[in-house]
Amino acid sequence: MLKDLFMSLSQNQFLNSTAKKYGLKMGAQSVVAGTNLDEAIKSIKELNAQGISCTVDNLGEFVFKKEEATDAKEQIIEVIEAIHAHKVDAHISLKPSQLGLDIDYSFCLDNLREIVERANQYDIFINIDMEDHKRLQPSFDILDELSKEYDNVGTVIQAYFYQSEENIQKYKNYRLRIVKGAYKEPEQYAYQNKAEIDANYIKLIEWHLLNGKFTSIATHDHLVINHVKAFVKKNNIPNDKFEFQMLYGFRKELQLKLAKEGYQFCTYVPFGHDWYGYFMRRLAERPQNLNLVAKQVFNTKTNTVIGLAAGAFLLGRLTKKK
Ligand code: FDA
Repeated sequence: MLKDLFMSLSQNQFLNSTAKKYGLKMGAQSVVAGTNLDEAIKSIKELNAQGISCTVDNLGEFVFKKEEATDAKEQIIEVIEAIHAHKVDAHISLKPSQLGLDIDYSFCLDNLREIVERANQYDIFINIDMEDHKRLQPSFDILDELSKEYDNVGTVIQAYFYQSEENIQKYKNYRLRIVKGAYKEPEQYAYQNKAEIDANYIKLIEWHLLNGKFTSIATHDHLVINHVKAFVKKNNIPNDKFEFQMLYGFRKELQLKLAKEGYQFCTYVPFGHDWYGYFMRRLAERPQNLNLVAKQVFNTKTNTVIGLAAGAFLLGRLTKKK
């Protein structure tokens, strides 16, 4: 129920544009590394100093105008330039929808090509984050196109999709991030049951560790992490073949512990004004993350506006259901 509520809220464009006008609110500041590039670079430097590398996401979604997608492209190129100029240990994560996938496939491909080309000049890796099932195949198609010219690009495999086993074999020669999957997907395409998703997740990780290129295991699940630690030891998989990844602000002690134990560790660092959808998906994944909100919510006028709008939205949905 809560998961469904937050997933619906994450897709609400009115709340998204309302939230964008204000700074980080509702506890989002704990899990988003600021609204501008300077703040993001500061966080990256702090993480690097602790032996942690970063993947940087200049947050953005609900892009339906070409000008917005072009702005997003320019901003991501600025991030690439900043990574190079500051000599920080970081690469880029981006979403095809942010770069115009929902507007026009070729336009989006051209935007991505420009980004990958610039990053390639500095040997910076670009990760194409995976979104919902509607964008899955076009995102793989973009990867196929780009990889004809560049080798600094890779993507994400989401364990909840039935299709992922086939995809991981097809894309085994790419650097892949493997995740459980963050969007609400219909039964037609994806496992719904947590035990089934978890089992497929382990299966995909093991397969790629044994057969694939570099593997990023992106999870906050200590059971999965412990399983992977035992698996790599048993199979003599060296530490430079994989890394663990977690999101900025989550399980900070565990992030540091893994880095100190000598595992490669990468923190996903989101920043920017477009924090709302990202934040709502984090609440959908783990309602306990509401603790982050509880401390902050309704203490300013902005939060009251967002809170009231969310309440009205929820009421609308509940009434509709009846
Ligand atoms: P899950 O939420 O299943 O939790 C399992 C258990 O772990 C919990 O029961 C609890 O015991 C423990 N746990 C989890 N979070 C905790 C916390 N904060 N504190 C204490 N214990 C906790 N998705 C997608 O669709 N496309 C993408 O491109 C990406 N990219 C991405 C990058 C990175 C770096 C990460 C970490 C995640 C993504 N995701 C993603 C999101 C991913 O698909 C998934 O939704 C979330 O990571 C939640 O699943 P987990 O595997 O973390 O554990």
